[in-house]
This record gives sequence, structure tokens and C-alpha cells, in this order.
Amino acid sequence: MSAWVESLPSYRRGDSFVDEDPVSENIVRAEGRITGEDRETLLGHPSITVWFTGLSGSGKSTLAFAVEEALVHGGSAAYVLDGDNIRFGLNRDLGFAPADRTENIRRIGEVCRLFQDSGMMVITAFISPYQADRDQVRALHPEGRFVEVFVDTPLEVCEQRDVKGLYQKARAGEIAEFSGISAPYEAPTNPELRIDTSKPLAECVAEILARLLP
Ligand code: ADX
Repeated sequence: MSAWVESLPSYRRGDSFVDEDPVSENIVRAEGRITGEDRETLLGHPSITVWFTGLSGSGKSTLAFAVEEALVHGGSAAYVLDGDNIRFGLNRDLGFAPADRTENIRRIGEVCRLFQDSGMMVITAFISPYQADRDQVRALHPEGRFVEVFVDTPLEVCEQRDVKGLYQKARAGEIAEFSGISAPYEAPTNPELRIDTSKPLAECVAEILARLLP
């Protein structure tokens, strides 16, 4: 392990991040008087995090935005956090090395938990290649408030689609550590939902909505 990696807090080295003590000392949690139930009554729907995971080009963003649209048109407060978009802002300091991906997911996990606590339906589209990282995000949430959705598009199909031309670059050695090619992707072992994207988009969206708003 390089000195730089060793100098990082353990969550940035890819270890557990839930149990890590904050760097700040002498901090005390403050609590408001509004409960999660109050917020659900106000908004009229459950507050949850819907976590899409899958390879680049698997269809996560397409599905996430389609689900968001259906939810908002149906009167729910839903919002998408998308991997590429977040890397232009909040996570612009992170790359694709394993510790960076873990930190990417840690930060987004915390953001999701805040959105979820605020009463929203938050939908994410991140490759999130490590099961341990996804499990840590789940652990931040109350029981039943984290819905892991595996966008199960085979690598061959993602590579054939190659919407952004990144697989071609990765095969040519122009992009290092590319998920599925030269970096790992750990498929979920026990997701709440598995989506077969060879089905029409509307069918996939209906399947997801049925799980979110039973
Ligand atoms: S994650 O692995 O840390 O969860 P994230 O979802 O934020 O990844 O970003 C993935 C997106 O970044 C891909 O859809 C792709 O457009 C782009 N990207 C650029 N380089 C890589 C890489 N080496 N591996 C995977 N995706 C990459």
C-alpha cells in the first residue's frame, strides 16, 4: 500500500465506513421535533433510497430518470443522483481507483440517507462495484428504506451498445481500471429487485414502481 493510501482514513482505503469515528471531537447530535412519519404524512408516500447498481451502459440512468418521471407525474417527491453528474460537482475530486470509488459511494450514501430522512424518494445511478460499499449504504438506512436494484445487463450487451464509446477506449488501453474490463464489478448477492433490460423500458419501470408503491 502506498504512503498516500496509508495516510487516508480507513473508509477511504476501502474498509468499513459506518463505524469510523468522526475526526471532530466534542460534537453532539441535535434533534428536531418532526418525525419521519410526519414527513410521510405530508408527502403521502414512503421515504426510501432506490439504489441502482450495474455496469457502465447497463441502463441505470435511463431507468432512474424514467422511474423519477413516473413518480413525480404520479405526485411523489422523487429525485435522481446520477454518477456522472455527481462527479462534475460534489465528487469532482475523485477518480476511479478502488479507494476513490468507495469514497464516492460513501458520500452518496450519506446524501441518500439525508434525502431519505427528509421524506424524499431518492434514486441513484452509480456503478457502485463493491458489495461491501453498497452494504454500508444499506446499513446507514432504517430497515426497509434501502431498495437495491441490480440492473442486470450482461457485459457483452453493455459493450456492444457502448453508448459513450468508453468500452472501445478501455479495450484499447486508453482508460485504466474500467469496470467489467480491467476493474471488478461485484453483482449484488441479494438485491430487492433484478431488472432484465432486454425487456421494454416501460415494463421495467412498471416492475420497479410496483415494488416501490405497493
Ligand atoms: S463508481 O464505480 O464510482 O460507482 P460512477 O457510477 O460514479 O462509478 O461513475 C461511472 C461513470 O464514469 C461511467 O458511467 C462512465 O461514464 C465514467 N467512467 C470513466 N472512467 C471510468 C472507469 N474507469 N470505470 C468506470 N466508469 C468510468
